[in-house]
Amino acid sequence: MKKGITVGARPQWNTHIGFLLAAIGSAIGLGNIWRFPYLCYKNGGGAFLIPYFLALVIVGIPFMILEISLGHKMRGSAPASYARVSTRWEWLGWWQVLFVMFGIGLYYSVVIAWCFYYFLLSFGLNWGADPNAFFFNDFLMISEGPFEVGNIRLPVLFSLAVIWFLNWFIVFRGVEKGLEKANKLFMPLLFLLILILMGWSINLPGSSEGISVYLKPDFEKLKDIGVWIDAVSQIFFTLSIAFGILITYASYLPEKSQIAKDSVTISIANCSFSLIAGVGVFSVLGYMAHKLSLPIDKVVSKSIGLAFVVFPTAIGMLPAFSQLFGVLFFGCLVIAGLTSSVSILEAFASATIDKFHYSRKTVVSVLAVAGFFGSIVFSTQGGLFWIDIVDHFLTQYGLVLGGILECILIGWIYKACVLREHIDSVCQSRLLSWWDYAVKIVIPATLAVILVNGFVKEVTSPYEGYPWLAIVLIGIDWVIFTLFFAMIVAARPWKDYQS
Ligand code: PHE
Repeated sequence: MKKGITVGARPQWNTHIGFLLAAIGSAIGLGNIWRFPYLCYKNGGGAFLIPYFLALVIVGIPFMILEISLGHKMRGSAPASYARVSTRWEWLGWWQVLFVMFGIGLYYSVVIAWCFYYFLLSFGLNWGADPNAFFFNDFLMISEGPFEVGNIRLPVLFSLAVIWFLNWFIVFRGVEKGLEKANKLFMPLLFLLILILMGWSINLPGSSEGISVYLKPDFEKLKDIGVWIDAVSQIFFTLSIAFGILITYASYLPEKSQIAKDSVTISIANCSFSLIAGVGVFSVLGYMAHKLSLPIDKVVSKSIGLAFVVFPTAIGMLPAFSQLFGVLFFGCLVIAGLTSSVSILEAFASATIDKFHYSRKTVVSVLAVAGFFGSIVFSTQGGLFWIDIVDHFLTQYGLVLGGILECILIGWIYKACVLREHIDSVCQSRLLSWWDYAVKIVIPATLAVILVNGFVKEVTSPYEGYPWLAIVLIGIDWVIFTLFFAMIVAARPWKDYQS
């Protein structure tokens, strides 16, 4: 009998490309379409690509290799894989999958739900002549602040039900028939759609000014540490690393696998998608600025404003086929979001199945219902404030702290060189020993700088000027509660433990 934790028979990807598309599907999400282009513009345009690609090569790819090789070697979800390294660290895995599922997953699905609703609206451009007023006053009916949650917005709730149904449907059907099939269908479609949209946008008048504002390098900006921090944080968020997701996906790989090569492929696919999406987004902004005879900085907006206010306005101004453009744009957002949200659900479902041996169907059904109800607070009139606060604290602290601890566990306790030997034994390529230093020193040190810098900013001025009470009760509590539950679940015995 095998000693330690046994997790029963493991599902497997049917094809290698199936795994790649699923991992790329998790990586490419809403963040690639609305976050990256704006970050790039804000942080020195083309010059931002320098810290971005450095962060990708020095931090992103080595971390991805860590997660994929760990999942591959340990054949388990994040908690199972960490527990196999040291049972004392199982809580870390639970914390990661908990704050991903019952934090990020809850509000991420609400934002996909907004995209879905706008996808439907696009057929008739039904956001009217003033998309700003429509979004905030008619659609979200936004309240005064986070403590005034108000009523549940029924259009959001309806779309949310659709999104959680789709999440459920895909993950319920399992790794091969659900996740793999869905990603094999959606990812090529997404690439096709984004290419069509880009081709369309760059042919609009004014697009070249938009693109030049997006990419014109301002090297002065590189002196600002905030720019470097944005680059590293974006790399973590965009590659879906330090969430326990890739560990889970890699645990379904066959014995012989190209771990290092796959990590590079996934990263390149993700980052090129961001660049292409940025060209499309800024072409449209250029067109809009051209039409209104305004400079680009008067039309650009960040994240939510970009997708739900600026884009609907621009789409309404298009000379022809505006509905079709809207349908394609919001369709892209829904697909990109969905292939990420299923990975969130899978990471938690897989962890629960590993530990308690419940059936996938039961686990996924219970989680999808819980996810739907958990998302409701973000669908209220105060939901946007909650999304903003929870997102900031989970990505700033949960993700970064989780990443540091993951590096300590694997780099120092398990030992990076032991994992590197595993990688070398299963793939043809040889990983250089500098990878050990990346995992042991470079990545945790970089993340520590981000953590300290963010913390100092936090105490000197509360995030976005929210009241301290909101920050503590909503943001910090969310981090603490997920940690608390992680400890409780980790303390429960494994269904199958051979000592
Ligand atoms: N990588 C996704 C994006 O860029 C975000 C994501 C976060 C996906 C967490 C899965 C889990 O939008």
